[in-house]
Amino acid sequence: MDKAPGTAPFVIALDGPAASGKGTLARLISQHYGFAHLDTGTLYRGVAWVIMDAGGDPSDPETAAIAAREYAIEKIAGADIRTKEVGAAASVVAANSAVRAALLEYQRRFAANPPKNAAGAVLDGRDIGTVVCPDATVKFFVTASPETRAHRRWLELSAARPELQEADIYQDLLERDARDAAREDAPMAAAADAELLDTTHLSIDAAFAAARRVIDGVFRRCG
Ligand code: CDP
Repeated sequence: MDKAPGTAPFVIALDGPAASGKGTLARLISQHYGFAHLDTGTLYRGVAWVIMDAGGDPSDPETAAIAAREYAIEKIAGADIRTKEVGAAASVVAANSAVRAALLEYQRRFAANPPKNAAGAVLDGRDIGTVVCPDATVKFFVTASPETRAHRRWLELSAARPELQEADIYQDLLERDARDAAREDAPMAAAADAELLDTTHLSIDAAFAAARRVIDGVFRRCG
């Protein structure tokens, strides 16, 4: 769907903890409505990967700040940034305010001017509804029980790495969620006006249908 001249884009924010299903939902929603999609976790994962690839320390504040300021998508071409090690390092660099500041403008610009003149943008992350796009048209906070999330992530990662233990992934997710929720700058949180979507007992289709009901309701109200 193209954006009519002079109209503001329809912005959908999806936040939530690791492996809650927000990424899959964001993809399905963006395809269904013809909106642009930005997985903001790839920015933090990308910064962490660049540092690790150069043998640097993601917890060093200056190293992380420089990597974020110099970050460009081309730097991670072909890299596997979805590993649990990169996820853990991403949540370390994400607690650094200089890193968050360096990545903020790009995310806001994406929402305000979606690529290919799309009529809307879907952003998923931890702080989209609270900090990046506090005026988003629709906000979701997507959750699931830690056991369900660990199982989903294990299914996703164990195909390539059968040695991975579900119990270790569970532990990793808990640590990452705790770090993401406890940091001072833009902690993971549900915006006061976010729709809560617990996907523990929902199939992908059912979660997508629930999200569509909310979005279509807003479309109708907006005319
Ligand atoms: O896919 P998953 O839910 O495991 O994580 P992700 O969305 O790829 O994000 C990786 C890490 O980046 C998170 O654990 C957060 O620390 C950080 N992040 C963030 O701080 N703010 C965002 N908007 C997105 C991700």
